[in-house]
Amino acid sequence: MELTYFGHSCFLLETNGKKILIDPFISPNELASEIDVNDIRCDYLLLSHGHEDHVADVDAVLKNNKDCKVVSNFEIIGWIQGKGHENVHPMNHGGKFEFDFGSVKYVNAVHSSVLPDGTYGGNPGGFVFESEGKTIYYAGDTALTMDMQLIGTYSKPDLAILPIGDNFTMGVDDAIICSDFIKCDNVIGMHYDTFPPVKIDHEEAKTKFNKAGKNLELMEIGSKKAY
Ligand code: NI
Ligand code: MN
Repeated sequence: MELTYFGHSCFLLETNGKKILIDPFISPNELASEIDVNDIRCDYLLLSHGHEDHVADVDAVLKNNKDCKVVSNFEIIGWIQGKGHENVHPMNHGGKFEFDFGSVKYVNAVHSSVLPDGTYGGNPGGFVFESEGKTIYYAGDTALTMDMQLIGTYSKPDLAILPIGDNFTMGVDDAIICSDFIKCDNVIGMHYDTFPPVKIDHEEAKTKFNKAGKNLELMEIGSKKAY
């Protein structure tokens, strides 16, 4: 499987021949000015919650990918259907479903969620992917929460994509505790540097993870990694 980083919390996961785009916020992100959202092709669009910095480019993605299946919670799927896009798959917390690329479980996040037009976004979540014999936890926007221990109980992810920018979500120190809870030593950071309150010191963050016996990767925007 391959993972491409498009900045902030937006990733493209490619597995079993399918492209899964998560939380598109590219055109408003100055740090991602090299990326053209109109170049992105995907088979699935996953949305963790309704905030602008996770759904800003939904219309562009749907315009360019009319056949993509949108996966999110029940309330956000209602908002997507209101746009006239009917290829959808609603989920809710604790539920897992087998898609043609692998399984997705929608898991708890402690945060808030409203869509940019004021529509209620339901409760925010994260995703646990199982595909090609690997497990990836994408936390979404969340505080550190004891519920993360459940993920370490049933999954033990090979890779965790965690928010580390603090202020709106966990910061580095809490993300390290999270990685203990989920029993995963391989972390990719997200939700940092995009806005002034979430700017972080990259070297300090990596050093803190190293001291805890863990690896933090901060992917270059536009870069791709194989797993
Ligand atoms: Ni948010
Ligand atoms: Mn956010």
